[in-house]
Amino acid sequence: MPKFSIQGPSQLQGEITVAGAKNHALAMIPAALLADGESILSRVPDIRDVKVLLNIVENLGAKVHHEAGQARIDARALSSSTIVPTQSGQARASIMLIGPLLHRFGKATIGHPGGCAIGRRPIDQFLAGFQALGAEVQDTGEAYEFTAKQLKGATYFFPFVSVTATEALMIAAAGIPETTLLKNAAAEPEVIALAEFLKQLGAQIEGAGTHTICITGSRQLQSSSAAMIPDRLEAGMFAILAASTQSRVLIKECNPEHLESLLKIFELMGVNYKRGADWLEILAGGVWRAPGKVVTHEYPGFATDLQPPLTVLLTQAQGATLVHETIFEGRLFYVDLLNRMGANILLCDPHRALVQGPTPLRGKRIESPDIRAGIAMVIAALIAEGETVIDNIYQIERGFENIEARLKALGAKIAKSE
Ligand code: EPZ
Repeated sequence: MPKFSIQGPSQLQGEITVAGAKNHALAMIPAALLADGESILSRVPDIRDVKVLLNIVENLGAKVHHEAGQARIDARALSSSTIVPTQSGQARASIMLIGPLLHRFGKATIGHPGGCAIGRRPIDQFLAGFQALGAEVQDTGEAYEFTAKQLKGATYFFPFVSVTATEALMIAAAGIPETTLLKNAAAEPEVIALAEFLKQLGAQIEGAGTHTICITGSRQLQSSSAAMIPDRLEAGMFAILAASTQSRVLIKECNPEHLESLLKIFELMGVNYKRGADWLEILAGGVWRAPGKVVTHEYPGFATDLQPPLTVLLTQAQGATLVHETIFEGRLFYVDLLNRMGANILLCDPHRALVQGPTPLRGKRIESPDIRAGIAMVIAALIAEGETVIDNIYQIERGFENIEARLKALGAKIAKSE
């Protein structure tokens, strides 16, 4: 199995250009299936999760042309409404295809969607949401069978915020020529960007970026084109990587406004940085103060996807920090791997970990549990004394384009081997 071998400690330097956002692209691909024509998505990251979803869409009959950075999608040739479990199991985002399939075929079948092993990842919000829009849902044990002669506008209140459930219902509602009101909706930048694209297709949408989104769709949606927004999770990871390795790194083509909660934590810790409209420069050197408490929260709060990388930085800060992971119940177990490297982290319960720092880290043989914990292991390896070998790196490559070469360009001693 492919693995990374990393020599540490490494001080890095240079500049990095942020890729288009994975989680924006994964919502845009289903949205493109609403259109009567070919849509063009640019700045699409060349990563496994995107390739998997494009492959599912192609298997449904759509015409897909994917080359470096660009995906052209034409749904006019769609011929199937079934996503088999072996495919849906590889891409949680596949559930966002249900709306376009219902509009086109009046039915859709999908195996249980997969996703990072960071918790149970149920889909009850999707099922309830589609039922609110008039779909019938049958759980056959093997798959979920959706049927709807015609979806209808509705008001749906999310009992808790769900990013892709918000996006899935927005996409479905964009094809309904009535008004749908989504309450307690997600307000992530990717949701706002998706709404902009749906408006380009011909839907009327108000309130994207707030917790109440009003959508009036249409049966005739025309194709359009859009560029993915900068990946705030990649930009944040590189910022944390620079601070963790006491490196000066310029992060280009990002949007620092999407990272305010991380930058606030940096200020509390004493991590110096400079910022511009589309760049962020982390300045080298310093003694980091433990911020005391970090709580993950829906946007604009501190992103759960940055929690694992930040926890690595916290192992190098002076003092104790309580990390409270409020979104997922299985997103802290990687701390055992950091403790094997020399960290001092007490896992109080599935949602809370107490990090004591600073602790020197030593290279070990570890594995990558999921995308974000995987890249956190890379950061830990760059701090640690000696060699670290990370197995299961396909998890990291699911979310970060060309990561080995990009880290090498910053001076990291990293090598990939079978
Ligand atoms: C999206 O996942 C992102 N994925 C995740 O990024 C991100 O961590 C998460 O939002 C939170 O920001 C994509 O956008 C493709 P949720 P999503 O529904 O939508 C529970 C990464 O590394 N829930 O907002 O699946 C759920 O278990 C990935 O890029 C239900 O209970 O997350 C969680 O506790 C990882 N029932 C909470 O809601 C449901 O039907 C929020 O999850 C749906 C969700």
